[in-house]
Amino acid sequence: MQNRLQKLKQEIFDKLAEIKHLDVLRDLEVKYLGRKGEFTKILRCLKDLTIQEKKEIGKLANEIKKDLQEKFEEVKNVITKNVIKREKLDVTLPGEKIEKGHLHPITIIQNELEDLFISMGFMVLDGPELESDYYNFEALNIPKHHPARDMQDTFYIDKKNKKQEYDLVMRTHTSPVQVRAMQKYGAPLRCVVPGKVFRNEALDACHEHTFYQLEGLMIDENISISNLIAVMKKLLNGIFKKEMETRVRPGYFPFVEPGIELDIKCAICNGKGCPSCKNSGWLELFPAGMVHPNVLIAGNIDPKKYSGFAFGLGLTRLIMMKYGINDIRLFNSGDLRFLEQF
Ligand code: PHE
Repeated sequence: MQNRLQKLKQEIFDKLAEIKHLDVLRDLEVKYLGRKGEFTKILRCLKDLTIQEKKEIGKLANEIKKDLQEKFEEVKNVITKNVIKREKLDVTLPGEKIEKGHLHPITIIQNELEDLFISMGFMVLDGPELESDYYNFEALNIPKHHPARDMQDTFYIDKKNKKQEYDLVMRTHTSPVQVRAMQKYGAPLRCVVPGKVFRNEALDACHEHTFYQLEGLMIDENISISNLIAVMKKLLNGIFKKEMETRVRPGYFPFVEPGIELDIKCAICNGKGCPSCKNSGWLELFPAGMVHPNVLIAGNIDPKKYSGFAFGLGLTRLIMMKYGINDIRLFNSGDLRFLEQF
């Protein structure tokens, strides 16, 4: 029994020498000296010994117990001191560098364009991304069963148990804000609407279900297509920081009459034809046109007195062109290797 006690003492001392954390120390104390601990277990066997043995071993056991308790106390003090030492604040140490984030490429260009349009007296407006079928289609001269609806398939929201008069859709373009703005501010009106839009698309390098547009609208007396072209050119200069060669083609959108498509000369091949411009030498950049009288009427504006132009810039496409990005899916990928380049 003496041997067992001595061996246990040595075992505990060895373990204590390696301990660095208070929690571990506490566990060890419970394991050996606690009520159900190893040491206590040995002491319990004393009762089976002779009186003489009890005397001798009892004495030894008490001594060892005292030694152990002292040793535990000592180790506890050392650890506590070390912890305090470690936690001391050295204000002269160099600080930890905090990684700063930065703006997404779409936000960067959006901010630049907003500034440009504000400088020309345009308001910057917002609209709901979950839009009513009315503003997204009907108010824009696209009635319920009109084939033009096929141009923009979207995500329809289940109307069950809801009382709204019109179906809700994820807006397919920023154009619904045209009518909202007319209703709210009347004429004359100058605004741009940057924002997220949604289409039910099969995804590939050129198509995403979620992308960004920037809508422009200007309504006043005597607004003509030459005002539209002037503003579009200003916009292009702002984006590409140089004069861009453009051409205008007719284009069909139910909410403009006449409708046009503005193309720019392909900057990659300088108009000679390359894979990026599908060998045409030109890139389709933005659709636009003179606001259709039905749309002005939906916005409570008198089409006999006022006219206006609107355009819908594909912000995501434009940024792809500006930076030569060949896959639209990169924008929403959250891939830092892509994002950190801007
Ligand atoms: N909203 C149209 C689209 O997303 C673009 C557009 C806007 C066309 C304004 C003409 C005028 O396709």
